[in-house]
Amino acid sequence: MTYLSQDLSAALLTINDLNALKRRGEKISCLTAYDASFSALIDAAGIEIILVGDSLGMVVQGHDTTLPVSISDMVYHARCVTQARKRAFVIADLPFMSYVTPAVAAQNAAKLLQSGGAQMVKLEGPHFDVVSFLVALGVPVCGHLGLLPQSINQLGSYKVQGKESNEAAKILADALQLQAAGVSMLVLECVPAGLAKEITAQLSIPVIGIGAGVDCDGQVLVLYDMLDVGAGKRPRFSKNFMEGSASIFDAVSAYHLAVKTQQFPSVEHSF
Ligand code: KIV
Repeated sequence: MTYLSQDLSAALLTINDLNALKRRGEKISCLTAYDASFSALIDAAGIEIILVGDSLGMVVQGHDTTLPVSISDMVYHARCVTQARKRAFVIADLPFMSYVTPAVAAQNAAKLLQSGGAQMVKLEGPHFDVVSFLVALGVPVCGHLGLLPQSINQLGSYKVQGKESNEAAKILADALQLQAAGVSMLVLECVPAGLAKEITAQLSIPVIGIGAGVDCDGQVLVLYDMLDVGAGKRPRFSKNFMEGSASIFDAVSAYHLAVKTQQFPSVEHSF
């Protein structure tokens, strides 16, 4: 067995490729997907990261929040996605209560990597001990700060985080500490664009924004929001890419291009 160029997995993007995009200032595109058909389509459109988000609890399963999603749900959807993509890097969410201790997190992260085929797991909040435990075991971790949907019952509503200077300072400090604990990537959700710009400049790892302004290293959207599917109101930070597109593939390609050229997000999609 060789890990050199004959390796069949070499076609898949790796964390090194994503780091290289950050270093050379090329924006990184990311979309959520939960099934094989959309995974293949998104991959073919050139999107670099597919996030199997626990947002599937809302957009696929029809719940009001992401809280009911189980680790078996996540493994199932991660497997659907990973077996259909050829190139995109795949991150899967650790769902609510699946990382209450480092040991529990390790067992569940193993499921996402071994059975789900994910290349990285994502968890919400400043759980430095969990992150360093996973990283020491060889599990790549993506942090998630700002709006934390799994904490919706504490927050009361899905609102912008870090508007006050003390909150902003805490998010920046948590981001730096997550990086020190070993996260390889960070998602910043619903924070003021200026704060996201500052965090992106201070971190050496890729920072992917959603409702976090144009200066992050990359952008992520929930697929169903940007395709304008669903009964709910589209969040302000999202955009209907079906408008002006002849097909779903065209809409996803338009999103990819808009991220690469920094046409998205514009001021109207930022806070
Ligand atoms: O679950 C998800 O889709 C997410 C994104 C909103 C970043 O975590």
